[in-house]
Amino acid sequence: MSKLDGKVAIITGAARGIGASAARLFAAEGAKVMLADVLTEPLLALAAEIGDNAAACPTDVTNEVAVKALVDQTIAKFGRVDIALLNAGIEGQVSPITDYAPEMFDKVIAVNVRGVWLGLKYVMKAMETKGGSIVITSSTSGIRATLNLSAYTASKHAVIGLMRSAALEGAPAKIRVNTVNPSPIDTPMIASLEAMRGLAGHNDQPMAQGTPLGRYGEAIEVAKLMLFLASDDASFCTGGVYMVDGGVSAGRR
Ligand SMILES: NC(=O)c1ccc[n+]([C@@H]2O[C@H](COP(=O)([O-])OP(=O)(O)OC[C@H]3O[C@@H](n4cnc5c(N)ncnc54)[C@H](O)[C@@H]3O)[C@@H](O)[C@H]2O)c1
Repeated sequence: MSKLDGKVAIITGAARGIGASAARLFAAEGAKVMLADVLTEPLLALAAEIGDNAAACPTDVTNEVAVKALVDQTIAKFGRVDIALLNAGIEGQVSPITDYAPEMFDKVIAVNVRGVWLGLKYVMKAMETKGGSIVITSSTSGIRATLNLSAYTASKHAVIGLMRSAALEGAPAKIRVNTVNPSPIDTPMIASLEAMRGLAGHNDQPMAQGTPLGRYGEAIEVAKLMLFLASDDASFCTGGVYMVDGGVSAGRR
């Protein structure tokens, strides 16, 4: 028996990176997966690759109508919602607060905080009768600051607050809510941060230098923690902050 047999999962930010890895893993473990992202082409390609147990719903997580439609379409297609990975996120710009564009601050908060809140609002409603598991992707930037990433750092702290609120509210309905806190994971987001920090072109994983395990994590290493938290193996886990960061949060070597 696979870990997610018979379960239905919504995954946001599923077109690439951590979300795409989780989509493949969850489907391999028996789940039916509804994939959501703003990048329509790779989203449709991933759903086609996974096959009958996947469907794609192009969704901007900042748009309330679209998020409600995502949950409605999941129920129409697969019958219910047992799991949600609220994983879509953007890094914003790399600069000190004094140079940070207010419009970019608003955009980061809209995707990373409002997007998660809207996901909670509609997914928790859908889970009200049968319970479920919600996993939110925070970051090591959710428990301490990352230099010159103020909006991102604020957003990833904020979703820990949302997670704790949702864990309290959802507990009577057996809705478990947790965060995974990755860093640094080898995805397009890290490549973008490297480029903005002037580190592009290095082939020595520059943002892993000095960290305990001294390498980038793979998206699948985050997806495996998401799988644990989403599955019934984590039946007593709610309201938790789970690091998957190669030791970054412990300190530098
Ligand atoms: N890569 C890392 O080192 C790292 C570290 C800590 C946390 N995270 C978090 O992990 C999550 C996944 O990031 P990733 O590393 O896979 O990066 P990624 O950029 O590869 O994936 C993010 C996905 O979110 C999607 N997205 C962005 N805005 C959206 C919107 N408005 N609506 C729907 N989808 C949207 C993107 O199109 C993309 O497919 C993010 O929340 C990110 O903040 C990543």
